[in-house]
Amino acid sequence: MSSNLLAGKVGIISGALNDKSIAWKVAQKAHEQGARIVLTNAPLAMRMGEIKNLAAEIDAPIIPADATSVEELEKLFGEAQGHFGGKIDFLLHSIGMSANIRKGKHYGELDYKFFQQTLDVSALSLHKMLHVAEKQDAFNEWGSVVALSYIAAQRAFLDYTDMSQAKAVLESIARSYGQRLGKLKKVRVNTVSQSPTKTTAGTGISGFDAFYEYAQKLSPLGNAPAEACADYCVSLFSDLTRYVTMQNLMHDGGFSTTGISDEMVEVLTKAAE
Ligand SMILES: NC(=O)c1ccc[n+]([C@@H]2O[C@H](COP(=O)([O-])OP(=O)(O)OC[C@H]3O[C@@H](n4cnc5c(N)ncnc54)[C@H](O)[C@@H]3O)[C@@H](O)[C@H]2O)c1
Repeated sequence: MSSNLLAGKVGIISGALNDKSIAWKVAQKAHEQGARIVLTNAPLAMRMGEIKNLAAEIDAPIIPADATSVEELEKLFGEAQGHFGGKIDFLLHSIGMSANIRKGKHYGELDYKFFQQTLDVSALSLHKMLHVAEKQDAFNEWGSVVALSYIAAQRAFLDYTDMSQAKAVLESIARSYGQRLGKLKKVRVNTVSQSPTKTTAGTGISGFDAFYEYAQKLSPLGNAPAEACADYCVSLFSDLTRYVTMQNLMHDGGFSTTGISDEMVEVLTKAAE
């Protein structure tokens, strides 16, 4: 149901790969709430083709850009403003990739070239996007930037390997740019720390099913689905959250502040019998 929360707003949404992607749901929900959108993803994701179905559904152009390339991001922000005929109100950073995770490397044997690539793709890309946006003066006042994170930024989850460090850097960049862009343009920058979610990036992590079940059993509300994450992102793009900035916002059904739950006690009691 639409309340037209984003009526008149325009924004860039990165990271919609297929209909499981969190960004896919954000694009659908933002469109439903009246926003106009430009979609972007890496050229490789474009070749997979599924994003074209979303583009047709929400009547959005796709502007390919590798988020590690400042040049390609300059083209993205320039063309997006050309398309909208003005500046941008919101940006979703929904980008993550670790070749160490893809190749199943454990924390003690990480490949350092891959590690640098993980940081570049999954964290520095937010810095690069905001750097380009500032240089082009691409944001409207009271604009909103959201980047998706995970609790492994604060707690050790060994199977998340170098993505843990990438998320810690991502959250730190959001705070620093939040301070800078808040002062310059009243633009807010936040990260949303989302529950484990069954997407291409999520299920690529070794032991993901155990992560998922553990969080499900611990969280009083259960794991937050991608659709609910999208609702939260829409609220952060809307004018109802104008003074929320430089925060890492937990969207995890209560996982991060729960010690133990009845469900976990039951599992552990059975295991001890
Ligand atoms: N799935 C989870 O359990 C979970 C939990 C918390 C946070 N997140 C975060 O949510 C975000 C979205 O992931 P998702 O779970 O929807 O998975 P996804 O695989 O659907 O999305 C990841 C996206 O990153 C894009 N990408 C990779 N390299 C890129 C590059 N160089 N330039 C531009 N785009 C690039 C991919 O093409 C893909 O669209 C990521 O930041 C992820 O870490 C996911």
